[in-house]
Amino acid sequence: MPTSAIQDTSTETDETYTAWAEEVRRLAARRRAVILAHNYQVPWIQDVADHVGDSLALSRVAARSDAETIVFCGVHFMAETAKILAPGKTVLIPDPDAGCSLADSIDAGQLRAWKAEHPGAVVVAYVNTTAEVKAEADICCTSSNAAEVVASVPAEREVLFLPDFFLGQHVKRVTGRDNVHLWLGECHVHAGIQPAALRARLEAEPDAELLVHPECGCTTTALWMVSDGQLPAERARVVSTGGMVAAAERTRARTVLVATETGILHQLRKANRAARFEPVSEDAVCRFMKMITPEKLLASLRDGVHEVEVPEPVRVRAERAVRRMIAIGQPGGGE
Ligand code: 13P
Ligand code: SF4
Repeated sequence: MPTSAIQDTSTETDETYTAWAEEVRRLAARRRAVILAHNYQVPWIQDVADHVGDSLALSRVAARSDAETIVFCGVHFMAETAKILAPGKTVLIPDPDAGCSLADSIDAGQLRAWKAEHPGAVVVAYVNTTAEVKAEADICCTSSNAAEVVASVPAEREVLFLPDFFLGQHVKRVTGRDNVHLWLGECHVHAGIQPAALRARLEAEPDAELLVHPECGCTTTALWMVSDGQLPAERARVVSTGGMVAAAERTRARTVLVATETGILHQLRKANRAARFEPVSEDAVCRFMKMITPEKLLASLRDGVHEVEVPEPVRVRAERAVRRMIAIGQPGGGE
């Protein structure tokens, strides 16, 4: 089954998809497995999954699921988060090498050294981190609740925010705090969505609405254009992938420009068939997310691979930080 055919295929009409999907569902039922898919997965995987969502929404589903097995179609740190929250369940990832350049930008040793420079600071770790890094953090956050999490820290306490610099800048602006220190990590996909590309697309589509992921290199430009009056505030939103789907359901705009990984377009187009959703950058494709292919999902369910393990002492410490995040986050992958 060639991967290239998969991305363009309409699931309603394609017999190959139907046969594959029936086999996936049969194997999932046999394993009593729930299939979770991130919004950046290829359309076939999004369409066959039990739940599609952003990092926070999927963490919540993993935590409350009564399935014996969780098959996580996303990148490794997301599957690890599911295991942290559901230690009694088998967590499978179809390709264990599906990593994340952002999560790889800081390890536990680097975080310990940073903490030693700021004794007493509260460590807020974006969920795009390894289990070892989460174990060193006080509280986790995702793109949909980062500002609420930082706002929950007493105003006089310093905050170490990691690893995403663009998300950190967004959080500093929203909370108005100047005692938040930022790690200089970035996602290569989102950092690659440049301000110049955003300006060109907005000039070509002057009536379009704009949805921007807070990890994007163009976030600052979008917010500056709003504050400068070049872009009406009601036409631009900085939101998680879950927040983008919610905005797509509500919008009355004819054209919506989308600044994030292009896999999200499938959910947006399903959410609103009247609007036209266009990427700010066609090149914004996460090769790690796309390592999870339909063939590998089938093999994962058939052979029970690849099991995600987190050493118990690390898991217990990481769970504390993740559960604090879940207690604070707004339901439904909000803005
Ligand atoms: P969301 O939490 O918005 O889904 O983002 C996850 C991610 O990996 C962004 O690149
Ligand atoms: Fe990581 Fe970026 Fe891929 Fe998201 S898009 S999983 S942050 S590399």
